[in-house]
Amino acid sequence: MSITAQMAPAGEAPQLSADNIDEVLAAMTLEEKAQLLVGGASNFAAAGAVVGGSAEAVPGAAGTTVAIPRLGIPATILTDGPAGVRINPTRPGDDKTYYATAFPIGTAVASTWNTALAEEIGRAIGDETKEYHCDVILGPGMNLHRNPLCGRNFEYYSEDPLLTGKIAAAYVRGVQSEGAGTSIKHFAVNSQETQRTSVDERASQRALRELYLKGFEIAVKEGKPWTVMASYNAVNGTLAQENRELLTDVLRTDWGFDGMVMTDWIGQRNTAAQVHAGNDLMEPGQAQQCEEIVAKVNSGELDIKDVDTSVRRLLEYIVKTPSFKRYPATDAPDLKKHAEITRRTANEGIVLLKNNGILPLSPDIKTVALFGVSSYEFLSGGVGSGCVHPPYVVDMVTGLANAGLSTTPRLTDTYRKYIQYAADKFEMDRHPAKWFQSPVMGQQKYPEISFSQYALATEEPLADAAIITIGRQAGEGIDREIDGDFNLSPDELEMLHDVTARFHSAGKPVIVIINSGSVIETASWKSLPDAIIVAWQPGMEGGNSVADILTGKANPSGKLTMTWPVNAIDHPSTQNYPLPMDLYTYNTMYDWTKGISGYHYTNHGEDIYVGYRYFDTFDKDVSYPFGYGLSYTDFEYSRPAVSAKGDDIAVSVTVKNTGRVPGKEVVQVYATAPDGTLEKPAKELKAFGKTRELKPGESETLTMTLKRRDLASFDESQSAWVVDPGTYQFHIAASVDDVRASVPLRVEGMTEKTTDALKPRVDFPRLSRK
Ligand code: BGC
Repeated sequence: MSITAQMAPAGEAPQLSADNIDEVLAAMTLEEKAQLLVGGASNFAAAGAVVGGSAEAVPGAAGTTVAIPRLGIPATILTDGPAGVRINPTRPGDDKTYYATAFPIGTAVASTWNTALAEEIGRAIGDETKEYHCDVILGPGMNLHRNPLCGRNFEYYSEDPLLTGKIAAAYVRGVQSEGAGTSIKHFAVNSQETQRTSVDERASQRALRELYLKGFEIAVKEGKPWTVMASYNAVNGTLAQENRELLTDVLRTDWGFDGMVMTDWIGQRNTAAQVHAGNDLMEPGQAQQCEEIVAKVNSGELDIKDVDTSVRRLLEYIVKTPSFKRYPATDAPDLKKHAEITRRTANEGIVLLKNNGILPLSPDIKTVALFGVSSYEFLSGGVGSGCVHPPYVVDMVTGLANAGLSTTPRLTDTYRKYIQYAADKFEMDRHPAKWFQSPVMGQQKYPEISFSQYALATEEPLADAAIITIGRQAGEGIDREIDGDFNLSPDELEMLHDVTARFHSAGKPVIVIINSGSVIETASWKSLPDAIIVAWQPGMEGGNSVADILTGKANPSGKLTMTWPVNAIDHPSTQNYPLPMDLYTYNTMYDWTKGISGYHYTNHGEDIYVGYRYFDTFDKDVSYPFGYGLSYTDFEYSRPAVSAKGDDIAVSVTVKNTGRVPGKEVVQVYATAPDGTLEKPAKELKAFGKTRELKPGESETLTMTLKRRDLASFDESQSAWVVDPGTYQFHIAASVDDVRASVPLRVEGMTEKTTDALKPRVDFPRLSRK
């Protein structure tokens, strides 16, 4: 098929509009179709396609779709995500800056349990996306927190799929209400970084449907994302990007997704298999992928109908984009307004784990001794493609100063000098071949300073309180270690013991701030300090947010979206979670054709017992349970009411603020199913709600709704969602371990057939309570 033969004479080619997609499709040459399906990272000379390299369009953006000017098809720009727009903040020969707001990371957003706030963040991110000439933000990241060791948990939301799906759907609605697109990622089962491009994630159909796919199902149905990103890994033996059962049977047939699917960023795989699977766009794009599409259509190995289906989806996507609509982007989003949103949302996601009454700080506390390198190098977000370039990050010294609290000069000065020294030394020591070995991979930036007891004893005058920040950094490409990362390092433990001993002996309080994207060990040391705050990585206003909580300007209302276990190995998934390894070793051992032996697959032997579904059902102790978080006030729950009307179930409860300061409360609804054919977790989250800010004495009635189908479990023997008939218990709770009342409801049974997709090809033992 020659290009010229198919081309309409110049001037007569249809120009793309929302109403003539069929006509444009019919006018496209095979080569043009192939180019549209392959991202613009490589330089295509043929057929009038314009180079769509993102470096030219928006420096630092992740990828593009190519332009075909002959048909009025513009290039579109895809940017990372998800905690803000990730583009280069400066450009050579240009005095202007292109900083983007670093919003709170995924876990922090989810910890608000506030879908309206997630939508508001989405709107702000959508605005920055289009103001910076981009069309799609590559987010939200929504893989399940299967295990605390996943390096990218910070980008994701929760160990629970309902919470994940609801927060993701809200983010998607927010971004897309601004006229920019989203790409929910990474579809699917990308809950580990080790060997992420090749590992075979083996899971039962039930665990897939109820856990790993469930959040995506909710986001697709309730958020209607423009695009989905197919993950690097395999799912039950077939790469997700080539997996027709995943990308067509489940995503489109079962869930009704009608948008576009793109690959996660990889080179050439089996392009024909990808297109046939329903993967419409290959990113970042290589010329050989175009050639392969053309050759395989010509040889009959790839059906032109599959190509046309994908091209149509690309065109349907393109006509929605700001680039197509010629949106007059300013390169000047309102960063000040977005900073305010960042601070407010971070405040609402911060979780108070412990408070012996010392918080909020009394006005008598005026000076604070700040310990921990992260107090000075506060972590606003994680690393990898999820890292945003903000104009500034408010550290703890600045945040406290803005709130009228000073820090002790000698200590602050020593830390600053130490950090400067550690940074310089790191650069000098680093071998150029280990460019990737960033000081921020794995744990806190630099080893903690071990002050002698003498130094602590002679620090005079002693500050009114001590704050210790424990920082953890993690990110793309590498999972976390248990020692010195999940667990505290010996230096950190020594610092905690010594500082607490010194301050307590003088009758002064100690507060710990956890500045981490995911879970750390707390059980062994939590008795030491007077208060513990999980600040997460709260975005660029971090220090201000922490100070708002410390001083009581904001009352904490965040709750944990994942279990904080006593030990990392308490999660059954830790047994089959790959041992993380140093990235240098990894790259040395890695053979791109074979991977690393022993890391080829992960058997999800814990099956449906992920997170609290395990700890709650098997009655295992935790350090802090799923859904937990303290407030500076108290809430009383009224007797709840549960009612059903047709397929709709409503649970209502009146929450009253019985304490002394205004506050918001997150209410969780768990269900326990009657005995049926399938075994079930002890309880599962089915709905949640959050009150508005209630003044002391004020009440609000929350009505939380669900559908009867939401009570279903997935029955593999009939490929169907099945609701067993019988009496369900609805638990109205402040956390999974703090049920305030339980109400029974009789529910009729129902069955909904699905495709019989994604059967495991290998048998492995599955955890069972029987
Ligand atoms: C990451 C994605 C990201 C993409 C583009 C990949 O390596 O897994 O999350 O969107 O790169 O930067």
